[in-house]
Amino acid sequence: MDKKIKSYQSVITGVGASLPKSIVTNKDLTMRIDTSEEWIVNRTGIEERRIASDDETTSSLGAEASKIAIKNAQIENSEIDLIILATATPDNTFPASATLIQSSLGIDKCYAYDIQAVCSGFVFALEAADNAIKAGNVKNALVIGSETFSRILDWEDRGTCVLFGDGAGAVVLSSKEGTERGILSNHLHSDGRYADLLYVDGGPSTSSKVGFLKMDGQGVFKHAVKNLSAVIEEALEYNNLSVDDIDWFIPHQANIRILESVAKKVGLSQDKIIITVQKHANTSAASIPLALFDAVQEDKIKKGDLVLLEAMGGGFSWGSTLIRW
Ligand code: ACO
Repeated sequence: MDKKIKSYQSVITGVGASLPKSIVTNKDLTMRIDTSEEWIVNRTGIEERRIASDDETTSSLGAEASKIAIKNAQIENSEIDLIILATATPDNTFPASATLIQSSLGIDKCYAYDIQAVCSGFVFALEAADNAIKAGNVKNALVIGSETFSRILDWEDRGTCVLFGDGAGAVVLSSKEGTERGILSNHLHSDGRYADLLYVDGGPSTSSKVGFLKMDGQGVFKHAVKNLSAVIEEALEYNNLSVDDIDWFIPHQANIRILESVAKKVGLSQDKIIITVQKHANTSAASIPLALFDAVQEDKIKKGDLVLLEAMGGGFSWGSTLIRW
């Protein structure tokens, strides 16, 4: 592309999603572990989640979501210049699962890599793709969040296994000139001092096992409300906006009580929040694009709307993306 033309905006031109076929309800879980439907719904808002079967992987779900996003963007697979996959559950340690998705899509020219920022991964990936577009290096980027957290859950630990689900969402981010639409700001943060509040106790450099997710639920809850409220306020201040100017909030779907506490703290109206945690549970990096897909399918977001994405996850890592739709 012609790099002499200077001002590029990154506009979402297509959204896609893919979920595993198997639905696991809270009632199903009561038959496996010592829990109740009431406890799960009251503490988390989750009613059901999708769980991947053996032949459904992070890359296969990501590839399906990508095909839908590319179709909705009305471009050909070959027009994708960059693929970034946000995931904490890649098919294998390497190669990057993004390259497996690339191969499934029959693309051999673009570059592709994974980003690992756990539940914040999708906003981290959007920022990287936005920078590549604004630098004039990329015309169309495929940004995917895909996870199979069911594979790293300890199904004996009722404190964590009820919280997560599997799935994938994807967007095509396209370079446009002469528009006020697109990504207006990205704000990303990490603080590794809290790594032991949410982690997986295994991995190639420390052990021979994949490991299980471990979490201090109350510690995570407290930091999530503080960090997410702060990152929303940071985005508003940077863009000289008030909370009432935002048309839609699409948060990472961890837990309804986190969403409600953040909404109360920053004074945002509940009817502007896209909520899908009841049917997807926490799908980590996939949760924002899955929620975005639902909002687009339901025709909620109109051209010109201000849409704020925000997420927080292990690390800790957290961030926001503000988009003029
Ligand atoms: N079913 C029934 N009882 C349970 C279950 C369960 N699935 N899990 C825990 N309990 C019990 C505990 O054993 C405990 O029993 P006790 O009082 O007899 O000891 C009781 O419930 C209360 O346990 P707490 O851990 O104190 O429950 P809490 O009110 O903190 O709720 C929860 C737990 C839902 C995990 C909450 O802390 C939370 O939402 N934390 C945020 C975690 C999160 O969202 N993580 C996602 C990753 S990070 C992110 O995406 C932002």
